[in-house]
Amino acid sequence: MDFKQIVSHAKEYGFIYQSSEIYDTLAAVYDYGPNGVELKNNIKEYWWRSMVQRHENIVGIDAAIFMHPKTWKASGHVDAFNDPLIDNKDSKKRYRADVLIEEYIDKIDAKAEKEIDKAAGRFGDQFNREQYITTNDRVVKYLAEKDSLTKRLAEAMKKGDMADLKKMIEDLEIACPESGSRNWTDVRQFNLMFSTQLGNIAGEEGKLYLRPETAQGIFLNFLNVQKTSRQKIPFGIAQIGKAFRNEIVARQFIFRMREFEQMEMQYFVRPGDEMEWYEYWKDLRLKWHMALGTPASQLRFHDHDNLAHYANAAVDIQFAFPFGFKELEGIHSRTDFDLSSHQELSGKKLQYFDPELEKSYVPYVVETSIGCDRMFLAMLSQSLQEEIVPDADGKESTRIVLKLHPSIAPVKCAILPLVKNKPEITEKAKAIFNDLKFFTQCQYDEKDAIGRRYRRQDAIGTPFCITIDFDSLDDHSVTIRHRDTLAQDRVHVSRIEEVLRDKVNMEALLRSF
Ligand code: GAP
Repeated sequence: MDFKQIVSHAKEYGFIYQSSEIYDTLAAVYDYGPNGVELKNNIKEYWWRSMVQRHENIVGIDAAIFMHPKTWKASGHVDAFNDPLIDNKDSKKRYRADVLIEEYIDKIDAKAEKEIDKAAGRFGDQFNREQYITTNDRVVKYLAEKDSLTKRLAEAMKKGDMADLKKMIEDLEIACPESGSRNWTDVRQFNLMFSTQLGNIAGEEGKLYLRPETAQGIFLNFLNVQKTSRQKIPFGIAQIGKAFRNEIVARQFIFRMREFEQMEMQYFVRPGDEMEWYEYWKDLRLKWHMALGTPASQLRFHDHDNLAHYANAAVDIQFAFPFGFKELEGIHSRTDFDLSSHQELSGKKLQYFDPELEKSYVPYVVETSIGCDRMFLAMLSQSLQEEIVPDADGKESTRIVLKLHPSIAPVKCAILPLVKNKPEITEKAKAIFNDLKFFTQCQYDEKDAIGRRYRRQDAIGTPFCITIDFDSLDDHSVTIRHRDTLAQDRVHVSRIEEVLRDKVNMEALLRSF
């Protein structure tokens, strides 16, 4: 499905609406509808239980969004959480200079990939990719250009060299996507934090920030949690919560939002052990994604070219979104940067006494950080499919189906009386619904022909439809239709829960990796 279809499906079926629609919307802010909130809660539950329930040495917290303003000084966000911004004087549109350059590099990469794909098609089984990319003149040229621009960009970003970013945009003759003009302003740094003001303190003193990452709530509570939960290093603290960034480029639907939700886990380790744990979390997080049915070909690791101010190693798990491979999750080795900075600025010790080593130290941190909304978009885009299926009358028709993993589907089971004008049937169906609703998220639907009701459930990803027909009155059995295979099983009412339990509950999923 293309991206536009995914966005309109999300609205039509109550997953996502643009914020403040009746006032012409608020850019890059979105609301989750009835099916959206269920799917999002299920993603959060899957993440939470895989972190907190599966690991006896990971505990959760729920820190406040507002934090003492010094937090953001110590964390480096006041000074370094900037994006390089450039305006086009003709269209008056604002862009991230690094993104304009990255998009240019992506185009060179796409040209190289196109050449490689063509050659792979020509040579078939004989194709040797490694040999081709080092010997074909055109591909060698593209890849060398990509490499040199990537390095120059990384260097300019690292040094905060705004003049060179501007020079790159000029050298590469990058034009404004809106106006086509190359009439650019200089590049300048733009801090991404939203700020607000405390009511009882005027001026800078009372300036508060909306947190741009949830992680700092974990760092500030590190000792509280360690002491009250009696954890020994290595141990982790997990949190799910809102984060806010004043993104300049706010495009691509819920991929880049100004208000979004993060699922972060900070793992506190002995200094020197961090790379071992970094590899461990890279591996486990990839398994977490694949357990949901995401094929390996849709996921890849991408080492950071520009390390954030706090990291000594960082990798993204990228997902093949409809607009290309992009960051879905970050795994960062943050060293002792945050705890040490907070220790210094607050004057309070943030150290751990290691009984085995018999000494105190500031722990190192490996974090895993995933945007819940991006995960939602990944699940929506990978699951939404259009396919040809056989009809009841032997013909074929097209259906739109959301092939979500059953345990994260918004509705697990739809209860459908075959007809709505037979009280014996509808009453039996309602009785089944009123029982099953205590077991899992169910929906009762008696409106329209059964085929249309199946299509409605397919479109929101309901893995099981239970039909109550005339025979059900005698044999006390129902038909369970499976969303993906369209197989239909006849099952006694007393066995419905037993048949569905392993599929819709998260337990099997959590055990599977
Ligand atoms: N604590 C580390 C941190 O915040 P990050 O790479 O800036 O690292 C982590 O963000 C994750 O948060 C990203 O991988 C992405 O999934 C999500 N994220 C970041 N900015 C976002 C935005 N503007 N909209 C939606 N999700 C975002």
